Amino acid sequence: MKYSGLKGMEDILPPDIHVWQAVEATARTIFARYGFQEIRVPILESTDIFTRGIGEATDIVEKEMYTFTDKGNRSVSMRPEGTAPVVRCYVEKNLHTLASPQKYFYTGPMFRYERPQKGRFRQFYQVGAEAFGVATPAMDAEVISMLRNLLEAIGLGGLNFELNSIGCAECRPAYRQALLDFFSVKLGEYCPDCQRRYETNPLRILDCKVARCGELRQGAPTVTGHLCEGCRTHFDEVLSLLNALKVPHTLNPNLVRGLDYYTRTTFEVTSEHLGAQKAVAAGGRYDRLVEEFGGPATPAIGFAIGMERIVTLLKDQQEPVQPEPVVFVATLGKEAEIEGFRIVETLRARGIWAEQSYGAGSLKSQLRRADRIGAAFALIIGENELKAGLLQWKNMKKGEQGEVAVADVVSFFQTN
Ligand code: HAM
Repeated sequence: MKYSGLKGMEDILPPDIHVWQAVEATARTIFARYGFQEIRVPILESTDIFTRGIGEATDIVEKEMYTFTDKGNRSVSMRPEGTAPVVRCYVEKNLHTLASPQKYFYTGPMFRYERPQKGRFRQFYQVGAEAFGVATPAMDAEVISMLRNLLEAIGLGGLNFELNSIGCAECRPAYRQALLDFFSVKLGEYCPDCQRRYETNPLRILDCKVARCGELRQGAPTVTGHLCEGCRTHFDEVLSLLNALKVPHTLNPNLVRGLDYYTRTTFEVTSEHLGAQKAVAAGGRYDRLVEEFGGPATPAIGFAIGMERIVTLLKDQQEPVQPEPVVFVATLGKEAEIEGFRIVETLRARGIWAEQSYGAGSLKSQLRRADRIGAAFALIIGENELKAGLLQWKNMKKGEQGEVAVADVVSFFQTN
């Protein structure tokens, strides 16, 4: 019987994992500067958190959720994204009673039953951030600027920041109607999905990837042309703050996003080097979601970064490096093996990566192993060395050798 992993679910191995860890560490550093604290919410939630939060008529909820009935006969779903669970937690744990704003970040796997392709997986990882309690454009600009700084700090420049405003409950209905009027003229020519979207969520037609639908919607009314006074001013201020902070951005009036909770500012960061799945991060404002989940009216904004896509871009720039031990201790004979083990443990206790030989094989085969694992040094302990209290070291890369007293081993490897 040969087992294999599920389609669209990847193993993440060394040396790639070191790229992942570096990205996560940098993200933590940047988040700390902006006062975002980590929050860990469960992977499994009650299904209605997502149907309510993301929207019944979205692709995610309609087609992509891993939903099942648990042994207690409840419908539960593996989270397809992090915002809805964080909002559920915010309301449930009364986090709105704490000083505003509350800023949180999270990392972890998300699950969507999509057709796997380059950059698209069924289990994928996000690093996300959510800020609650501030309605003013300064928070939009802060979150977007933080995302830019984070991406730059991990070594990714030259990405496109696409921005849009999709309005609010006040201006959306008129825009929706303008779209319906426009689409109704040639409705029969749109793909079956879009014909359904016409009924359920016409904004989503702007996002359809079918080429013919793209042609048909040329000249469709733009949301920016239908913003109410409040949304217009808000968006203009966000843009002028981004200009002041020198965050380069372009306007994309078709950026409607695949989740229903958004209001006002939406954004997506894209790269030209990723093929079809080019969004490395995306987010926006969702000023009504906390209230919809039963909390007090609380404005909020956030984003999520797709880790696999970030790692792909970083690996294109530089091959991941496999870390290597500082020293491999080769031993000959039982007594030397015990002394070797003791030295290895002493070195480790002093912060040095040391490997032992596990008592196996000739000196030659042990040195071969030292070479294979890339150890910088081999330390050789035989009977004579034990008696003399002097150990032989060999620099595996340069071929140099010498002797070091047992008492000096730690300082020798700390300085070499
Ligand atoms: P999203 O656009 O669905 O937004 O996902 C954010 C990012 O996750 C995408 O830009 C992409 O990089 C990555 N991603 C999404 N699906 C996949 C997949 N199947 N395989 C690999 N990567 C993927 C959200 O999830 C929102 N919760 C973001 C947000 C937070 N909005 C406000 N706060």
